[in-house]
Amino acid sequence: MMARKYKISVLPGDGIGREVVPEAIRVLKSAASQVGGIEFEIIEFECGGEYYLKTGREWSKEAEQFAKEEADAVLLGAIGAVDSDGRDVRLPDNNLAGYNVVIGLRLSLELYANVRPVKLYEGVPTPLADKTHKDIDMVIIRENTEGLYTPARGTLIREGVKDTAVDLRVITRKGATRVIRYAYETALKRDGAPVDGKRRVTCVDKSNLLAGCQLFRDVFDELGNEYPKIERDYAYVDAWTQWALKKPEFYDVVVAPNEFGDIITDLGGAIQGGLGMAPAGNIGDHHGVFEPVHGSAPKHYGQNRANPIAAILAGSMMMDWLGIRHDDKKAIAISNVIQNAVAEVLRESRVRTYDLCIQQWSRIEPSTTVEVTDEIIKVIESQES
Ligand code: IPM
Ligand code: MN
Repeated sequence: MMARKYKISVLPGDGIGREVVPEAIRVLKSAASQVGGIEFEIIEFECGGEYYLKTGREWSKEAEQFAKEEADAVLLGAIGAVDSDGRDVRLPDNNLAGYNVVIGLRLSLELYANVRPVKLYEGVPTPLADKTHKDIDMVIIRENTEGLYTPARGTLIREGVKDTAVDLRVITRKGATRVIRYAYETALKRDGAPVDGKRRVTCVDKSNLLAGCQLFRDVFDELGNEYPKIERDYAYVDAWTQWALKKPEFYDVVVAPNEFGDIITDLGGAIQGGLGMAPAGNIGDHHGVFEPVHGSAPKHYGQNRANPIAAILAGSMMMDWLGIRHDDKKAIAISNVIQNAVAEVLRESRVRTYDLCIQQWSRIEPSTTVEVTDEIIKVIESQES
C-alpha cells in the first residue's frame, strides 16, 4: 500500500519557537516511522519579527500561499521579536511584527476553535498544593476569530498626543454557534470531568454585564438542548479563575469568548505545569494550525533550555486532527504514540527541562531541550509497533 503523504507547513517563527519546533518535527518523524504508512512533506519557512527586521516582511508570499492553500496542516512556533533596545518589533500599524501570521491565519482561515487541553501529566509539578494529575484534565476551547480580537480598533491622536483608543468587541451568532458546537462535540468524545466522570461544558463569560456575552450564553443554551446528555455549567470569568484553582477536577470542557479564553488558558497553562507544557490547536472546518501556547521568550533563546513538550504535544494534536479529518487510523496512532511517550518520560522523571525541576523534582539536574526530545524519541523507538 502506498504511504499517505501529508504536506506540513512549518513556521518556527521567533525565539524559542526556532528551538522547539525542530524538536517537535524530530518526534513526529520518529513516531511516523514507528507506526509506518505515513510520509511527511515538510516545508519550512521563516516568518515573524526577526524575519521582518531582516526583510521588511512578516513572511514570504510563498510561505503565506503554502500555509493557506496547499498545506494539510501548519505547525507554528512562536511570534515576537525584540529590537536591540529591547523593544517589541512592531509593524507601521503598530501591530506586533508577526501578527499577520499568527492572528492573520486564525482570521483568514476561519480557525474558530482554539483548542487548549489543560492536562497535568503524572510527574509534573503544579502550583496547586493539594491537586494531582488525577484532578486536572480539562480542555479549554477559546473562540478564535472575533471578540476583542476583531480587527476593529483605532487610536485618536489629538495635538500629537494619543488621546482615545477603542477596541470593538464583536460577538456574532455565527461565531458563537460554531465554537460552542465544537465544545459540545468535544465533550461527547471525552470521558467527563475528573471529579465525577460527568460530561460537562462550562460557559465562561461575563453575561451579567456584557451584551456580547449574553448572546454567547443564549447560543450556549439553545445548542445545549441538542446535547441532553451533557451537563451545562455556567461561570462568570472572574469567578471561574478562583474555581479553576480550587476545584479544577470539576471541569471537563470549557468554552469562552476570545479574550477571556486567552487569559484563562494561561491560568490553565500554569496549573498544568507551566506554559512549557501547554499545546494548542487552532481549528476550523478546513484548516488547522498547531502551536505551543507559549511565546517566543527571547531571553531564553539560544540556550537549548526551553521545554519542547508543548510543541511536541502540538504535533500530536496535529496528527489527531489529521487522522480524524482524513479517517486515517495511522495518523491517530502517531498522535497516541507521541502522547504516551511524553507521559512516560514525565512519569519516569529522569529527564526534564529547568521549568519542571521544582518541588519534589528540585534535585533533578535540568536537561536541555534536545536531551528531553532524545529521551522521548528513545521511548518511541522502544515501543512495540
Ligand atoms: C496566544 C497569544 C496570542 C494571543 C498573542 C501572541 C497575540 O497570547 O496565542 O494566546 O493573544 O492570542
Ligand atoms: Mn495568550
